[in-house]
Amino acid sequence: MPDGLDVDYDGLIPNNVGLSQDARVRRALETWHPGYIDWWRDMGPEGFQDALVYLRTAVSVDPAGWAKFGFVRMPEYKWGILLAPAVADRTIGFGLHRGEEVWQEVPGEYRAMLRRLLVIQGDTEPASVEQQRHLGATAPSLYDLRNLFQVNVEEGRHLWAMVYLLQKHFGADGREEAEELLRRRSGHIDTPRMLGAFNEATPDWLSFFMFTTFTDRDGKMQLAALAQSGFDPLSRTCRFMLTEEAHHMFVGESGVARVIERTCAAMREAGIDDATDVAAVRRLGVIDLPLIQRKMNLHCSLTFDLFGNEISTNAANAFNAGLKGRYREDRIDDDHLLATATYPVLRLVDGLVVREEVPALSSLNMRLRDDFVADVEGSVARWNRVIERAGFAFRLTLPHVGFNRRIGEFARGHLAPDGTVLTQAAWQQLMPEVLPTAQDGAYLESLMRPERRPGVFAGWIAPPKAGIDSKPGDFEYVRIEG
Ligand SMILES: [Fe+2]
Ligand SMILES: [Fe+2]
Repeated sequence: MPDGLDVDYDGLIPNNVGLSQDARVRRALETWHPGYIDWWRDMGPEGFQDALVYLRTAVSVDPAGWAKFGFVRMPEYKWGILLAPAVADRTIGFGLHRGEEVWQEVPGEYRAMLRRLLVIQGDTEPASVEQQRHLGATAPSLYDLRNLFQVNVEEGRHLWAMVYLLQKHFGADGREEAEELLRRRSGHIDTPRMLGAFNEATPDWLSFFMFTTFTDRDGKMQLAALAQSGFDPLSRTCRFMLTEEAHHMFVGESGVARVIERTCAAMREAGIDDATDVAAVRRLGVIDLPLIQRKMNLHCSLTFDLFGNEISTNAANAFNAGLKGRYREDRIDDDHLLATATYPVLRLVDGLVVREEVPALSSLNMRLRDDFVADVEGSVARWNRVIERAGFAFRLTLPHVGFNRRIGEFARGHLAPDGTVLTQAAWQQLMPEVLPTAQDGAYLESLMRPERRPGVFAGWIAPPKAGIDSKPGDFEYVRIEG
């Protein structure tokens, strides 16, 4: 058996799961592979399939050095199946099976639940590639173009990760699910992706940076909860995926920070002190801070919906079963059973936002969403430091969890970003101030002109602090001619 560190690069599918000795799964994956490549060519980055892109590829899961950088055509990227090393004598950390040895095979009684968890996670991975497929045409620099493609190929690899688990452990059902994952399409009227936020458009680069800050971070939280799983192959898969996910959030957070930095510098140069003087700021060809706030409101609220209903029996069942834990379950100091514990949940009762103690088992989605908020607050604080250092009084704030919701407790109410409950009429009136408008969209579109000269950046975004893989500022990250 492979020890979980060495990656076999000889076959069609790089892996550290011993595929060369597993003829059944290797055949299933090799059968799936052409359909995947067709999907990538149809739905992956439009117009750049032949470009040479400076990408990192995972060649080991050793934390000390798993990545190798080099120029690759994306359809030839080595999408592999990589599991983090097994932890010796690992036991189930929570739920009804706490203390028992972890499962290497799917426990029969939880088969349906586990399959559902894998399919929902798997569906988000190709969805984001589809959502981002037109962005290459308007990239503000070759550096950003390369980062987009890095995120895209890794989301592709995450699909492989889930498809491997389905094909390895779910037989014919798993093969069918793997086909379905290639058949659904983000935003398609008949065969949409499974979750709402993954059917929204990503029309411009500010949306992309917001998506990778907020929505990829939902991915991080879900993967972290699944990394606690008593189903050991899932735990090991998710632990490795998390190392890649960190880069996606870096792309998002640093992208927004660079937009803010450029806007503030342009306002300074032009002698503008009032960051809310939108007309004056837009004359400079940069993105005003109030628009950044509206985009943030949108992407944050769409992402809140991904955590599902605050009160959820599915979440309780998955926890009891030992399949999906809490964020950092292994660092929480309690009984990990939650039989009698409670958790404070925000609810909308008779038009008022109230905090109620609810059985902790039923409120696991709410808790994961709270952990998400704590995590993303760090990004917002860093963005605000950029504004503060430039000497502006404006501050970005996360919207209230009840703002603009379609799922859960707050779906039936209308809340302002500060949490005030509004009438329908007041909400309609407030909307253009707190969510991106058609004019905002048109303005952003007017700025989205591609910049393809090495080391040059579009006028609405500052260069990064450092290059990828320590490359110099004028490095040609994407050779478009191929
Ligand atoms: Fe992913
Ligand atoms: Fe991601």
